[in-house]
Amino acid sequence: MHVISCLDYAEMSRKTARIIAALVQLKPHCVLGLATGSTPVGTYKELIRYHLEEDLDFSNVTTVNLDEYYGLGPEHEQSYRCFMQRNLFDHINIPPENTHVPDGLTRDVARTCAEYDNLVASLGGTDIQLVGIGDNGHIAFNEPNTVFVANTHLVDLDEDTIKANARFFASEGDVPRQAITMGMRSIFSAKLILLLSSGPNKASAIARMIKGPIDPQLPASILQLHPNVVVIAVKEALALV
Ligand code: F6R
Repeated sequence: MHVISCLDYAEMSRKTARIIAALVQLKPHCVLGLATGSTPVGTYKELIRYHLEEDLDFSNVTTVNLDEYYGLGPEHEQSYRCFMQRNLFDHINIPPENTHVPDGLTRDVARTCAEYDNLVASLGGTDIQLVGIGDNGHIAFNEPNTVFVANTHLVDLDEDTIKANARFFASEGDVPRQAITMGMRSIFSAKLILLLSSGPNKASAIARMIKGPIDPQLPASILQLHPNVVVIAVKEALALV
């Protein structure tokens, strides 16, 4: 794993966006794997700036997001589809049909999950997959577990995750208890994984991800097996490395 240490959130966001912008310029038909949460918001702002001020063209780009809350539809302002519209898609020239987020309202979970993995495979995997990391070491919504789950699946969210994400909802009771998440196979289809992290609360998970044993109790540790992972993190998040 290659580690890039940044002084602050703005530097992390600029450096990440620069890599993605270079890919979009070099390979206009690229496939971007995207994440939600607080960490990538600055990167998305930079990408919007590249589009508005430097003509970065997203018209041939395809995106696949990591996850979606189960039970939330695109109209719900805390759904990840809505997050992506608000923070990126509504501000760039990507065709709506090129953007993919798991369907949180599906009545056929098994089929939706299988189709999502088929979609990623049919695209030839992602060129870049952006991922954040939970305080508990989750990537996407692959929570600490006794096994690593390969396929896209429905997952019960950890109490830690529900607490951490309560800040986006009126109350903790409003946070969905389940999500549909990409499993490790689709995440590993990426030619390059960019793991972003900021904040001292991530330091322990980052240290265990980089130095610890590969253990499904710390799901991000499986990234040690991927040949091309770059960690772009604010220095507080690297304090224990
Ligand atoms: C989001 C996702 C999650 C977040 C993680 C960190 O699509 O898959 O794994 O990346 O929970 O969230 P933030 O960035 O809010 O600290």
